[in-house]
Amino acid sequence: MCKAFIFLPSMTTDQLKQHFATAFDQQALEVYFCPGRVNLIGEHIDYNGGLVMPCAINFGTWMLLAPNEDNVFRFRSVNFEDTYDIGVQDAYEKTGREWYNYPLGVLHHFVADGKNVKGLDVLYYGNVPIGSGLSSSASIEIATAFAFNKYFNTGYSKLELVKMAKSVENNFIGLSSGIMDQFAVAFGEDSKALMLNCGTLDYQAVDAHLGDNVLAIINSNKPRKLAESKYNERVEECQQALAALKQELNIEHLCDIDTATFEQYQHLITDPVVLKRARHVVSENDRVKLAAKALADHDLTEFGRLMYASHHSLQHDYEVSGAELDAVVEYSLTNANVTGARMTGAGFGGCAIAIVKADAFEDYRKELIAYYTDKIGYAPDVYATNISDGVHELTGE
Ligand code: GLA
Repeated sequence: MCKAFIFLPSMTTDQLKQHFATAFDQQALEVYFCPGRVNLIGEHIDYNGGLVMPCAINFGTWMLLAPNEDNVFRFRSVNFEDTYDIGVQDAYEKTGREWYNYPLGVLHHFVADGKNVKGLDVLYYGNVPIGSGLSSSASIEIATAFAFNKYFNTGYSKLELVKMAKSVENNFIGLSSGIMDQFAVAFGEDSKALMLNCGTLDYQAVDAHLGDNVLAIINSNKPRKLAESKYNERVEECQQALAALKQELNIEHLCDIDTATFEQYQHLITDPVVLKRARHVVSENDRVKLAAKALADHDLTEFGRLMYASHHSLQHDYEVSGAELDAVVEYSLTNANVTGARMTGAGFGGCAIAIVKADAFEDYRKELIAYYTDKIGYAPDVYATNISDGVHELTGE
């Protein structure tokens, strides 16, 4: 089992190169960084062809590499003691070995696509808590795909790498996730949110005007047991809702309709649980449109209201929250220095986000920790984060 870990410190390139030299007895040739992400609003929307608003954060995965003469991929992580070596092959299969499957899945896609690869020594270091809903897996997938593409000169576009990483998640790992996470960590931009249409993959990087506020990340520290099977279950429920609506509507995705149209046709969905799921999806997609307008108008109050409404819908209609994430939002609602809060990512534990006045952040952090600990029985981790650039190669430092 891998152990979850809290946000670890950043490391300088020099420190990481030192780790690399110790692990492999040679110098690293290239160094890459890929962030994690938070989603400001638009949850469980990407696999329904709608609008999401994620941004990359200043926590993520570092990856260092150098060629070896042995035609072997040697994967190491500063975070974990286990070591994985595998020769150059025509195909790779998922193993029972957690984090290792992500680079292995990427490698599989390169060779399955007929690309020539040669043995590499590879070292990772991540400071995104694993399984916390901040896309540690997309971060390692995109870091690997981006680095291999550059090193092996395979000429994929960034969008092709994003699609490949999504395929790793869907076909190699077995999670029916959408494209949001991989897209966000690849295309993220400093201080911008990505307004991404997951149906068309058109996107716009929009200013994330937070004024005198910070974006707080609250890790509930709740282990996400059964998250994968519940996630796939939600995907199926959405497919059922879509099939029911298609009896009378000519649509491709659930997000092709707005709330008004949904209300007119919702009688076609006879299963009450499926109906609730669809209501979340359609209303959430409408909320993203309103949130984009609020952000453009510098109306953070309205943006915050929509965040709370999004959480409410995820809690009651989509049922992917839980006592822990609800406690974060409950407390945030009572604090006048918080504009909005909601769970972010898949849910079932993981993280919440909040927009908090910068000069009141420390008090918020302390009070939230006290409230949460009293209610849940253990403490959350609360951090202020910066919205940052997507995957890139690091030079020097
Ligand atoms: C996970 C998935 C994403 C998305 C979110 C929920 O992070 O990987 O594709 O569906 O959950 O919005």
